[in-house]
Amino acid sequence: MSSWLAPTAAIIGGQWGDEGKGKIVDLLAPNFDMVVRATGGNNAGHTIVINGKKHVFHLLPSGILYPEKLNVIADGVVIDLFVLLEEIRELEKNGLRVENLRISANAHILMPYHRILDVAREEKLSGIGAKIGTTGRGIGPCYADTAARTGIPLRMLFDKTALHNSIRQNLEEKIALLAHYCGYDDEKIRHSFSNFISENEITASYLARINHALASSGAAPTLDTLALVLVDIYAELGTRIQQYVTNTTALLHRAHAFGKRILFEGAQGTFLDPYHGTYPYVTSSHPTIGGIIAGSGVARISQTLIVLKAYTTRVGEGPFVSELHGKDGDALRASGEEYGATTGRPRRCGWYDSVMARHAAAVNGTTEAVLTKLDVLSSLEKIPVCVGYQYTGSPCFADKAYKPGMELRTMPPTNIMAHCEPMLMELPGWKCDISGARTFAHLPPAAQNYVRKLEELSGVLFRIISVGKERDATIIR
Ligand code: GDP
Ligand code: IMO
Ligand code: MG
Repeated sequence: MSSWLAPTAAIIGGQWGDEGKGKIVDLLAPNFDMVVRATGGNNAGHTIVINGKKHVFHLLPSGILYPEKLNVIADGVVIDLFVLLEEIRELEKNGLRVENLRISANAHILMPYHRILDVAREEKLSGIGAKIGTTGRGIGPCYADTAARTGIPLRMLFDKTALHNSIRQNLEEKIALLAHYCGYDDEKIRHSFSNFISENEITASYLARINHALASSGAAPTLDTLALVLVDIYAELGTRIQQYVTNTTALLHRAHAFGKRILFEGAQGTFLDPYHGTYPYVTSSHPTIGGIIAGSGVARISQTLIVLKAYTTRVGEGPFVSELHGKDGDALRASGEEYGATTGRPRRCGWYDSVMARHAAAVNGTTEAVLTKLDVLSSLEKIPVCVGYQYTGSPCFADKAYKPGMELRTMPPTNIMAHCEPMLMELPGWKCDISGARTFAHLPPAAQNYVRKLEELSGVLFRIISVGKERDATIIR
């Protein structure tokens, strides 16, 4: 296929996630031998549509639909084993095999108490108007444990004594937090552990075991009962996934040395990075190229493509300068079908923001990009694009002195961004269906002009332009 594609390439979200990374990874996968997820967990929801059938992957790499490609979940991913097993079961139900999956023994396990704590903290923060709007999947608490060195790497599932010690210690800490910080009483704690995940074929029997253990524990302390049942369950889950577990870093290094082509699939988006995003309204792993390198152990990645939607969306709380409120936002959400692939939450919608795009290109060290969902703008007469920010807050020193009325062309810190208005430039719309275009020349002149203007404002070259959900609804330049 495309001669511009390097043998090791990364696909990275350039906004707040949901840019269409899944579609692009699935599209490019035939050019590679391996597809690798190295960041995030099942907070991700990557959608692939093939002949009208929709697949949403939360943990499995988006190359999994190609049986001949090796799909790798590397060290930096946090794994909810229930979600992973359910994804595998779903694929097998559809007649697809997953022998092409490898999972790092170093990846950390996302435990029930991570989910419970995530939800409990959000409830607590909500009370003081400070919630993050997380996906509630336990991502923050799980990465916090990794950083605190109290996490459970997958390999520990095969050492029951170590597993017991770790689970027991973690439960003691988490239950104390739930009780004393979040105000959970015994009953609420028991209820949370019996219902920490929604029931499906995989989870039902495990939830019943937790329930039974807690119910029959009588006066025995919840802590010990829970520890024992969780150790049993997780050791068993370990045996269910053992066939996939390996040293993925060594595997990737070997593959690289033998000239295998490797595609890295980013999760989330650059502005959800704890350092480079809109902190604290971010996720807890690094969705940027640095995160992919740290999470996979592969530093030699020759090409980075950032994926940018032709407008902007965000799920959860936090500043969003070009956000549209009211009927304009509703109209964009309806045309783009902007509802979360993981939580189903309506996505906040706004215009393309070239300040963000420039920052994303710089942070990820690239000028190559992918533009998605251009077709969604087809009914608009005029299309505004954000070219700068005007600060409307009171005088403030953040990284420098910010004064009211100041015009900004580079990303300010979150607290400044929260008080910025977008400076908009209007571009003419094309007012016709472009979903059948397969070459750049097939796009109407106004759409070509829109793409070129975004390139100029963002300092990137759009190698790929996506004009629909399906694999073939794509222009490759
Ligand atoms: P990801 O998290 O970056 O993989 O993106 P999501 O899958 O969460 O959200 C992107 C949504 O847009 C999915 O429903 C895709 O099927 C859809 N999509 C991707 N590219 C296009 C496109 O070019 N046009 C349209 N209309 N939909 C697209
Ligand atoms: P993909 O890979 C969009 C957002 C959440 C919330 C913040 C923190 O599909 O692009 P977390 O659960 O990670 O602690 O939530 O990050 N978020 C995403 N938004 N797409 C995603 O993934 C996201 N993953 C996390 O909505 O604002
Ligand atoms: Mg998504």
